[in-house]
Amino acid sequence: MAETPGHHLCKDGSSTIYSSTFHQFYHNPNGAVAESIHVFFEQPGLLATLKSSPEAISVFEMGFGTGLNFVLLADLYLRFNAAFPLSFFSVEAFPITPDEAGELNYGDFLDHPHLMDGIPEIFQSLKPGLNQFNPIPGKQISLTIYNGLFENIERGEFPEEVDFFFHDPFSPEVNESLWQPDTFAKLRLMANDRSVLATYSAASKARASMAKAGWKVARASGALGKREMTLASPNSTTLSGFKRVNEDRLIERWDSGDFK
Ligand SMILES: C[S@@+](CC[C@H](N)C(=O)[O-])C[C@H]1O[C@@H](n2cnc3c(N)ncnc32)[C@H](O)[C@@H]1O
Repeated sequence: MAETPGHHLCKDGSSTIYSSTFHQFYHNPNGAVAESIHVFFEQPGLLATLKSSPEAISVFEMGFGTGLNFVLLADLYLRFNAAFPLSFFSVEAFPITPDEAGELNYGDFLDHPHLMDGIPEIFQSLKPGLNQFNPIPGKQISLTIYNGLFENIERGEFPEEVDFFFHDPFSPEVNESLWQPDTFAKLRLMANDRSVLATYSAASKARASMAKAGWKVARASGALGKREMTLASPNSTTLSGFKRVNEDRLIERWDSGDFK
């Protein structure tokens, strides 16, 4: 297959893509796989939850991108011989092409490399609006992709009682709408008291925006040389063990226009 123009290898050897629309890589060029595992699995406690035989897990992802986070989660589910229902709901307005998906080398990083086989077909079949997949026959994993702008999802279309949020848009500088209080308020509607939102960004502006929408916000150690990342939850006890930010101060700064 001819290499597509945006395809790159990160320093850990895993693939990423350069978006010519957002002028940014889809992942940290130091390591797509390594950063995902740290930010979305280890720090928010998803890895520990997967091992603890929960009744069910529901994940919401902002930005399906290459599908990397989904295949990493499915791979762990199979590795741990999990049998509980896992639902993964992701949103993607600008899907990559099936050819781009076919070039990704994430199979080299999985215990179950065949999980990558179905990814180009998923992109091939995406229709506007909600798309439902049963990606691993015989397993209780459901994948739902909303193909469209997050801003356009209606209340009745998105999941409720989400346990883990993967907030994975491009950065606040280039993907501004997905870092606004409105966005975090909409996510809050899908959350329960134990929900944890994780994001790679440590920007004060992003944290202030979460705080404006009623999330409690904490710092966690960042991946691959980054000093910090961010965790948030509607309930402060969910964040115990992490150093909290001063939400009131960030809200004041937001209201006084500090982040414009
Ligand atoms: C950093 S990438 C996500 C990486 C992805 N989670 C992965 O595992 O490969 C951000 C994604 O958000 C999508 N996106 C950006 N703005 C959006 C919007 N307003 N609504 C829906 N998707 C959006 C982009 O097209 C891109 O695929």
